[in-house]
Amino acid sequence: MRRFVLIGQTASASGDFSLENLPSSSGRLDALLRALRAALLVSHAVRTNACVYLVLRGGPKAPRVLRVDGARVKFLRPDERSLALLIKKTLDAAPPALSELTELRPGVDLRDGDLAELLSELADAPSYVLEEGGADVRTAALPEDAWFFLGDHQGFDAASRELLAARGAATLSVGPRSLHAEDVVTLLNNELDRRSPAPR
Ligand SMILES: C[S@@+](CC[C@H](N)C(=O)[O-])C[C@H]1O[C@@H](n2cnc3c(N)ncnc32)[C@H](O)[C@@H]1O
Repeated sequence: MRRFVLIGQTASASGDFSLENLPSSSGRLDALLRALRAALLVSHAVRTNACVYLVLRGGPKAPRVLRVDGARVKFLRPDERSLALLIKKTLDAAPPALSELTELRPGVDLRDGDLAELLSELADAPSYVLEEGGADVRTAALPEDAWFFLGDHQGFDAASRELLAARGAATLSVGPRSLHAEDVVTLLNNELDRRSPAPR
């Protein structure tokens, strides 16, 4: 299972955003949703070997971690509006306190907490911080069970960097230019696909 963790510095942790004006009303959740699509969807299918974690740090209910598991999720559509609606309904349906990842819709889980809480529950697994200047993805060993950590439009904050460094995460680059997170995810998935054609 490939795991992509997208850190949304301002992305809304509650459903209080407008589908009509997603970028400005949701703290740029739209950018995370495009990366989620790139992580989980191929043409006419869901990647059952991929899982996405959104670290939502915006708004009064933050921080929360939302997981979409390609092996369990149902009716995942590729357009941003449908994805936003799925996330909105999940966040709206959340009980007041969730101390562990809890399935609220098929394949969509939510918990209270931030990156630190998520990391504290991870078994030892190869972890990579994605950023330009890291080791070249073309030559790096890339296990299929890797965890990939990406920033949003604001990149990584110092505290997240420290947590990931303490976990021993290596830095990995898909190329010399600073790309949008969704494009980085596409390149990573493609690199993994080329190495081990996986079940879709
Ligand atoms: C839009 S970029 C962040 C730009 C932000 N202004 C910054 O300075 O970090 C979103 C995320 O994509 C990833 N990223 C962007 N370019 C990359 C590259 N060439 N290789 C690996 N990851 C990259 C990083 O995780 C980054 O935080």
